[in-house]
Amino acid sequence: MKKSYFKIAIKIIIGLVLLSLIFWAQSNRANHGGKGFGGDFTLTNHAGEAVTDKDFKDQYRLIYFGFTFCPAICPTELQRVATILNELGSLGEAIQPIFITVDPERDTPEMMKNYVEMFHPRLIGLTGTIEQIEQAKTGYNVYSKKVKDEEMSEYTVDHSSFIYFMGPDDTLLRIFKISDPTETIIKNVRGVLEKANPQ
Ligand code: NI
Repeated sequence: MKKSYFKIAIKIIIGLVLLSLIFWAQSNRANHGGKGFGGDFTLTNHAGEAVTDKDFKDQYRLIYFGFTFCPAICPTELQRVATILNELGSLGEAIQPIFITVDPERDTPEMMKNYVEMFHPRLIGLTGTIEQIEQAKTGYNVYSKKVKDEEMSEYTVDHSSFIYFMGPDDTLLRIFKISDPTETIIKNVRGVLEKANPQ
């Protein structure tokens, strides 16, 4: 009797330790990032060339996932990325802005090229096969889902909307939300860049 209680207690303790380890790993990843965030990917840039995560590994980046047919949120957030870079002036030149599509079926490199040009001359658009995009999404914990409404001739895509601020060594520095004021983001990014390159 005593022995089986002991066994159950041990099992419960092991279960709790495992669960808290998983929670700790998840929250650590989301809140503090750390090196190696984003995972490996191979995608196609808006010039039609193959690129991988290694090409950007050592750069500061502002990364946004969305799609070119998005009616409101994506253009607003990409416009914000452009504003952030412009407001940072020469400091902003250290940052590579990247737009990754969650709608690779419609977002061909040519579509991406026409789209990114509307926002910022240095904005890179990345697309790929459905599998390649899934891999990139997984690395950044991005959610997206195709939605087809009976009344619409075209589908739309539900997706999470975050601006990922990445640093050298694939370090996740911050995740900015739609609700974060642009001024706050600029202040945060400027702080990081000035600390990295003291004048
Ligand atoms: Ni969107």
